[in-house]
Amino acid sequence: MISNVIVINKNSTTCEYKDQHDQKERAKLWGVASTAYRQILKPVAFTTQYCLDALDLTIGKDVQQPLKLLDVACGYGALTIPAAQRIAPAGGSIMGIDISPGMLEQLKIESQGFNNISSACMNGEDLQLEDNQFDYVYSAFGLILFSDRDKGLKELHRVVKKGGKATITSWPYDCEFFTWMQRSYRRISEDEMPDEAIKRITLGDGEFLRESFEKAGFHSFKVHTFIKVMPLPIDNMMEFFKEHPLIKMFQSYLPVEKKDLFHFAIRDELQSMFPNGKMNLHVRCAVAIGTK
Ligand SMILES: C[S@@+](CC[C@H](N)C(=O)[O-])C[C@H]1O[C@@H](n2cnc3c(N)ncnc32)[C@H](O)[C@@H]1O
Repeated sequence: MISNVIVINKNSTTCEYKDQHDQKERAKLWGVASTAYRQILKPVAFTTQYCLDALDLTIGKDVQQPLKLLDVACGYGALTIPAAQRIAPAGGSIMGIDISPGMLEQLKIESQGFNNISSACMNGEDLQLEDNQFDYVYSAFGLILFSDRDKGLKELHRVVKKGGKATITSWPYDCEFFTWMQRSYRRISEDEMPDEAIKRITLGDGEFLRESFEKAGFHSFKVHTFIKVMPLPIDNMMEFFKEHPLIKMFQSYLPVEKKDLFHFAIRDELQSMFPNGKMNLHVRCAVAIGTK
């Protein structure tokens, strides 16, 4: 159980939200957020819970073959690490790639002691990897953020072997995160948060996801929905959000004089939802699997 407030990046530089088609800017933004990302999310295993579901649905718990896996936009390794543990006994290996050297530093910390993990700094929309070489490829909460998600999915399709599977995790359009952000936005703006803001960071959980997988060349597609709890103290959540690129993206839709108010609005909204200061947010996530 977490009871203390985690304070991170006290003296670190902040980073302005800029054009996300510029991959250097993207790498910088996620780099600034990377320490908080690992230190705050890892103890509550938030994204990890869905990553474990993705692994259960694909490689399972008892792996007998020496599998070759790829984790695109791996971050600190929420999927990479548990996958490496499962595939190690049968001689499997996993490669984690991310656009942010800062995130890969966090993965390096987490992967100490493993000898079946490799990593590389790479854009997931343009993988510097050969065709048809992985048994399973994943992107947990990564590909949904790409500036060109179709390109990212095509890349997953290109590098996975024939008969292999690609798995991505996506927040539904009406996911609890987004409705909470929309309510926070409404607290300080007469306008609704534009739909476009949400659509930039999700492929939904239904038809749009299916169409995207089919367009990328996958011949069979299945989607599973999971609900997990995010049990964070509000103070920790707010610390996590300080430099979070997605909060900066939402903020970018606000008029200049309102931008700084967004964090206060998020906190107020959270406090009205969880008056005891501890979040107990149930969050839905879609785990989508396509076969090549
Ligand atoms: C929300 S985090 C998810 C990290 C991890 N997969 C997890 O589940 O916790 C998004 C990650 O995507 C990475 N990322 C964003 N755009 C990328 C791109 N075009 N290519 C590769 N990685 C990218 C970021 O650096 C960040 O590590």
